[in-house]
Amino acid sequence: MANDTASVPREWRKIGFIGTGHMGQAMIQALIESGRVPANKIFATNRSDGKLKKMHEQFGINVVATNEQLIDSCEVVIIAVKPQDLAPMLEPIASTFLPSHIVISLAAGFSLRSLQKLLPDVKALIRVMPNTPATIRRAVLGYCLGKDAASYGPMVEDLFSPLGLVVPAPEGELFQSLTVACGSGTGFVFEMMQYWQEWMEEHGFERDIARQMVVQTFLGAAELAVKAKDLPLHDLQDKVVSKKGVTAAGLQSMRELEIERALRYSFEKAVLRDSEIERTTARD
Ligand SMILES: NC(=O)c1ccc[n+]([C@@H]2O[C@H](COP(=O)([O-])OP(=O)(O)OC[C@H]3O[C@@H](n4cnc5c(N)ncnc54)[C@H](OP(=O)(O)O)[C@@H]3O)[C@@H](O)[C@H]2O)c1
Repeated sequence: MANDTASVPREWRKIGFIGTGHMGQAMIQALIESGRVPANKIFATNRSDGKLKKMHEQFGINVVATNEQLIDSCEVVIIAVKPQDLAPMLEPIASTFLPSHIVISLAAGFSLRSLQKLLPDVKALIRVMPNTPATIRRAVLGYCLGKDAASYGPMVEDLFSPLGLVVPAPEGELFQSLTVACGSGTGFVFEMMQYWQEWMEEHGFERDIARQMVVQTFLGAAELAVKAKDLPLHDLQDKVVSKKGVTAAGLQSMRELEIERALRYSFEKAVLRDSEIERTTARD
């Protein structure tokens, strides 16, 4: 049955989102705007009404009153609620799922094993870890497949490739490091962009132009790296540095202050938090 579903033509599938918060909205918007899934094939629920109403008005998706109705209406169910809300949401409605459903969880720190305990009859259980640039189709999306879902890789890549870079990452160290560096990573980059902007404001630039210049600096560096994709990042950095020059002085100070160590430490803290959430959400 699972293999049959994996080959269902794209145009047949109805896709339901349980939860239309930040990530649910970002993915719905990207799937529609990229043309991958038409709005009339997208169904959504949310605990409170406001976001749903907005999504219906903005994109014309189908709004459904209950999660059970959504599961009945869709072949693919994407769970986009917070990790701590996932089990309380699924437990009372688990029997609504058919073995043929494709269930995709976006929740950080909620393992496939725990998902399988909640939905023992569903064959195709998949985890996807997106990040918010999905809205502009510049996401990094990691995915891992449940033990009975090995044939679903092409389907996941087909569905999500318009949203950005789709990377298989088996559960464990790979999926966890992707969760931190890419899922949370956007938040870390914005943290640094704020320091940049504040420093420029302190040195006399108005807020708007300071923001624009910081964004353009990050964008410019990223686009250079895209264009020169065969060059190591270190070589691109070297093009900015002249011996005893201005950049060299700044970099030397960054290294003396061990910014790399601070970043690595922060990443490891985020990994620990991911493991902690996984322990609290575990279903044994
Ligand atoms: N945001 C990111 O950058 C990011 C990145 C990677 C992965 N994720 C994962 O994506 C998931 C969603 O994150 P988020 O940032 O989008 O959170 P969020 O903004 O809080 O959205 C979660 C949504 O789920 C709704 N909800 C809660 N219980 C529900 C239920 N029983 N039935 C239907 N809807 C329900 C909430 O409704 P209310 O409006 O009533 O609160 C809320 O709108 C999380 O598991 C997170 O780990 C997020």
